[in-house]
Amino acid sequence: MSIYKSNNHLIAPSVLAADFANLSKDIAVINDSEADWFHIDIMDGVFVPNISFGFPVLKSIAEYAKKPLDVHLMIVDPDRYLKQCKDLGAEIISVHYEACTHLHRTIHAIKELGCKASVALNPHTPIALLDDVIEDLDMVLIMSVNPGFGGQKFIDRTYRKIEEVRKLALLRNEELLVQVDGGVGPHNIGQLVQAGADVLVAGNAIFASENPIATIQEMKNVKPPVNLV
Ligand code: DX5
Ligand code: ZN
Repeated sequence: MSIYKSNNHLIAPSVLAADFANLSKDIAVINDSEADWFHIDIMDGVFVPNISFGFPVLKSIAEYAKKPLDVHLMIVDPDRYLKQCKDLGAEIISVHYEACTHLHRTIHAIKELGCKASVALNPHTPIALLDDVIEDLDMVLIMSVNPGFGGQKFIDRTYRKIEEVRKLALLRNEELLVQVDGGVGPHNIGQLVQAGADVLVAGNAIFASENPIATIQEMKNVKPPVNLV
């Protein structure tokens, strides 16, 4: 399956919001739905003030998942774990700009493993800081909440950031995917796609809904509002 940009936006349900006591059930929901990727949030309690799950859980997800694994590392010193992510099945790996002293080296380490390389930006981190690596990236992950927890309120300033990275991508890296993560759901997905988002991560909006498969379908089939400008 291609993970490249298509005319249609991609939906990446966040497993963080799944029922961990019935993980295989929620993995099946993603497999059986129109979702495109599995978004897997790994937190270390240091880079973010929360701990989610680690490699044994990633391994179990990988055994049952039938779609690409998109691993979002919210950890310090991610270089130490890149190979393990790849070996357990990650196809896309996001590291945080704020966690990487030698970001260029880390991006190329991900690519040398054969994975797609993505850099995540916290809400306070400007797009301009990616200026010297933009051509090297497969994806930019724009955090629309402060990372660490699901179910937070979407930060509206994100729309301008999406537009900014999309403009940069048009000039310098046409294949670049723009991912948005945090507070995304049926209520704002149309506007996010219109701003230039390609990959929409959603946790609570999907798994806390009455019918996750229908919610994914609604998000997948949304049409961006008509631009009146
Ligand atoms: C937050 C994580 C998100 C989270 C999104 O730090 O990176 O992927 O699961 O959850 P919602 O969609 O509930 O905001
Ligand atoms: Zn995430």
